[in-house]
Amino acid sequence: MINWTHATNLTIIIILYMTVLVNGFACKNPSLVQADDFYFDGLRMRGNTSNAVGSKVSLVTVEQVPGLNTLGISMARVDYEPGGLNPPHVHSRATELFTVLEGTIEVGFVTSNPENRFITKVLQKGDVFVFPFRLVHFQRNIGNTNALAISTLSSQNPGIVTIANAVFGSKPDISTDVLAKAFQTSNEVIENLQFKF
Ligand SMILES: *[C@@H]1O[C@H](CO)[C@@H](O)[C@H](O)[C@H]1NC(C)=O
Repeated sequence: MINWTHATNLTIIIILYMTVLVNGFACKNPSLVQADDFYFDGLRMRGNTSNAVGSKVSLVTVEQVPGLNTLGISMARVDYEPGGLNPPHVHSRATELFTVLEGTIEVGFVTSNPENRFITKVLQKGDVFVFPFRLVHFQRNIGNTNALAISTLSSQNPGIVTIANAVFGSKPDISTDVLAKAFQTSNEVIENLQFKF
């Protein structure tokens, strides 16, 4: 015979602790949600740009803010030192709307095959630029002061594929001769790049 009291308690326990994943992240039980699930204080400070490219992207995605799940939006703070570069990358699941808050930033993206047209612009404080879905794009601080930008992205989990890291820094390495042929250069040049990444 089924003990219904026991079954009901079990159902409640399962509902409370069950995690339904949406796009890889847990959907919380609405009754357990707190203000902090919708909150992030990680953009108060300037990002640390002491690295090889002189820029730092601080993300606000579903990873930082669980309350963003399923809502189709995220953002990032991007800090640049003079000459700092946010290197060529793509977002697998998002178009990006990029706004300059401080400084002078050169931006660009490249359209798809066969044209591979390079679309580029120099942005001033207050200017906005669009990086369409999945196209390779970058930003570079061409001023002599620090620069700051805010990006908004049309996914709670936009995905970032940095071209150099994906091509030359994969684990394990893509065969050197595959890349030498693809980039029409020598194995030595490719090995040097693979060593860096
Ligand atoms: C910034 O990053 C560099 C390199 O990782 C590190 O040495 C330095 O301590 C960091 N600075 C701050 C203020 O965290």
